[in-house]
Amino acid sequence: MAIQVFQATFDVEACLAEIRECLEKGWTGMGFKTVQMEEAWKKYTGFENAYYLNSSTAGLNLCVEILKEKYGWADGDEIITTPLTFISTNHAILLGGMHPVFADVDDTFCMDPKEAEKKITEKTRAIMYVGLGGNVGHWDEIVALAKKHDLKLILDAAHMAGTRVNGVIPGKEADVVVYSFQAVKNLPTADSGMICFREKELDAIARKRAWLGINKDTYARTGAGGNYKWKYDVEYVGRKDHGNSVIASLALVQLRHLDEDNARRREICKQYLNGLSVLGDKVRFANVLHPEECSRHLFQILVEDRDGLMLYLNEHDIFPGVHYVDNTEYRMYRYAHGTCPHAAYISDHTMTLPLHMRLTERDVEAVIQAICDFIQKG
Ligand SMILES: Cc1ncc(COP(=O)(O)O)c(C=O)c1O
Repeated sequence: MAIQVFQATFDVEACLAEIRECLEKGWTGMGFKTVQMEEAWKKYTGFENAYYLNSSTAGLNLCVEILKEKYGWADGDEIITTPLTFISTNHAILLGGMHPVFADVDDTFCMDPKEAEKKITEKTRAIMYVGLGGNVGHWDEIVALAKKHDLKLILDAAHMAGTRVNGVIPGKEADVVVYSFQAVKNLPTADSGMICFREKELDAIARKRAWLGINKDTYARTGAGGNYKWKYDVEYVGRKDHGNSVIASLALVQLRHLDEDNARRREICKQYLNGLSVLGDKVRFANVLHPEECSRHLFQILVEDRDGLMLYLNEHDIFPGVHYVDNTEYRMYRYAHGTCPHAAYISDHTMTLPLHMRLTERDVEAVIQAICDFIQKG
């Protein structure tokens, strides 16, 4: 059996029972289970606001637009970001009419606060920080930097579902935190996400903008009494970004398993770390801070001949991934190519090893053995 980098596991019967409730009630759209998921997420994370969306990409796009409007940012104003991320992060900045300025990463593979500080200009308005693989990296220093320079802070927490620091879900200092519950994330659904604004007012705007700018959702209208249930106003030219009850059913069930799944992920990472330690510095690792509380969405290694190792593993039915290609290699971000040498190095040498709930100890051992065979023979 092939060993894939990601493969989701669902609590099938429980998911079907939640979906059945939607079907029996005759309510599969926004509201009902989406509201339950928002409440459950607020309770789990401690965030005051949470709005359930059809993806985290939608959330990133929304938050740049909303912050831009709220704070009167001009087209071309700058947001400092990382080149080592999924393209959604940086497209959100560009789509919002802002200019992504790339700051290099450090040994955590997350943005280096010292590099970020060097990139601040009079046009800088915000920092977009990605907790790569669930790692918080030097988030505290980024928070201090944003405070010092009066910048807004966006946390792309796509990989961070369940990450804690000293028992607490990080990100309360951010203006907005965006999670992904996409098909292979730690809390897998099919596609969905959650946006958590610090300010209630911005959460309210997101709810309108994600429903075409309409100021009253159909669920609220259905519950309302009186003669004007059907009546609404349209306050924004918005998109249709909200989540629905069928997918929220999956999210509600998967949330019950999140901590236990993340604990298993950490065990797998320990097995990799122990098994690969015989290779000394021929295999290096991302410096994961607070590893005992990290969601461990990714287990990333650095090796000299990444592409050779990838082919070798593929020949042995093992299919790792790469997270990520340095975004400044893509045409729309090429203007910044060469500005982040550490990220470029990682981009050329990193590999993400298989990490999911279906892996057995023997699978992990097989991956370790294959890596050892390749490197020791080379
Ligand atoms: C760092 C990062 N940000 C954003 C996203 C987008 O998430 P979604 O697929 O929920 O839109 C992803 C998804 O892979 C991601 O890895």
